Amino acid sequence: MSTFNNAYDVSREAEMKEPLDFNRRSRLKHVDRVFKAEILNIIHLTEMEKLYQIRLLDPAERARFSFLPGQFVMLEVPGYGEIPISISSSPAKNGYLELCIRRAGVVTGALHRAQRGAKVGVRGPFGSHFPMEEMKNHNLLLVAGGLGLAPLRAPIFEVIDHRPDYGDVNILYGTREPAQLLFDYQYEEWGRIDDIDLRIIVEKPDPGWTGPTGMITELIGDLEIDPRRTFAIVCGPPVMFKSVCRHLVEIGVSMRRIFVSLERRMHCGMGKCCRCNVGSTFTCMDGPVFDYWAVMNLKEAI
Ligand SMILES: Cc1cc2nc3c(=O)[nH]c(=O)nc-3n(C[C@H](O)[C@H](O)[C@H](O)COP(=O)(O)OP(=O)(O)OC[C@H]3O[C@@H](n4cnc5c(N)ncnc54)[C@H](O)[C@@H]3O)c2cc1C
Ligand code: FES
Repeated sequence: MSTFNNAYDVSREAEMKEPLDFNRRSRLKHVDRVFKAEILNIIHLTEMEKLYQIRLLDPAERARFSFLPGQFVMLEVPGYGEIPISISSSPAKNGYLELCIRRAGVVTGALHRAQRGAKVGVRGPFGSHFPMEEMKNHNLLLVAGGLGLAPLRAPIFEVIDHRPDYGDVNILYGTREPAQLLFDYQYEEWGRIDDIDLRIIVEKPDPGWTGPTGMITELIGDLEIDPRRTFAIVCGPPVMFKSVCRHLVEIGVSMRRIFVSLERRMHCGMGKCCRCNVGSTFTCMDGPVFDYWAVMNLKEAI
């Protein structure tokens, strides 16, 4: 027997059943570009959160920049670092982006000290989005807890901008205390829109609070939800979205029709650094928006 028979034979290689999805990365639009941008305006929302209106400096880039509800950008604060932040404005407005930012640490702390006119960098938009097309002609249940209203605001604007395309819309929002409510100046406007029912609840009322008190799931109990006609988006801390999603599944809403936005530590935002992965899932590219079925199958996701 010659050793020749044992030589490497390429035809012995197992055939790849499913080709690697290299296209997943090439679908990203603005990959490595950092757009120079400036802070156009800063709106004080609460003790911990501010809303930043950010404008790309180049008018041509500004006109081209587009995103889908649920996507995020990587916001660079020169000298401090870069952080993922959900886009909180209407996709129809392309003059500027709105980002609602909670003061948490180094980069967000620097942003909270920044003034109008400060220069920043923007990469993106990145990530998956809420399936607004698929949701058309259905009822929508939009549920947010605390800072969860930031990623929910883009789909709310999308629905308002295309109101006839959707059925009944219920928006439920809850925080621990009234002082933590975000965007309170918009509630009246949202509540006036046809068939949009906005309900707000707080856990710990202050003396001026006249609305309902308790957990957000108590608001869901008051709604008549037709599970066959309803899509839900749930954004908020894991403890909140888990209980809301469980409740929705119990009343018959399909896990595939409930969408959540997951927050992980991210570095590159585009599948290069492996900081954000849960198993083989990259939350920056496959997420941050997932349906509840996918979340249940992601180990350590929540
Ligand atoms: C897809 C996505 C969208 C996001 N959208 C928003 C948004 O709209 N508004 C907003 O205020 N924040 C958002 N975040 C969280 C934001 O990115 C972090 O708060 C930020 O990176 C903190 O940076 P820092 O330098 O200020 O804090 P650091 O100094 O890095 O850390 C301060 C504290 O914050 C915690 N922290 C840091 N990063 C995260 C994170 N990604 N998730 C949870 N805790 C974190 C740290 O554990 C530490 O306790 C989002 C995160 C992701 C992944
Ligand atoms: S943040 Fe780098 S791979 Fe997801």
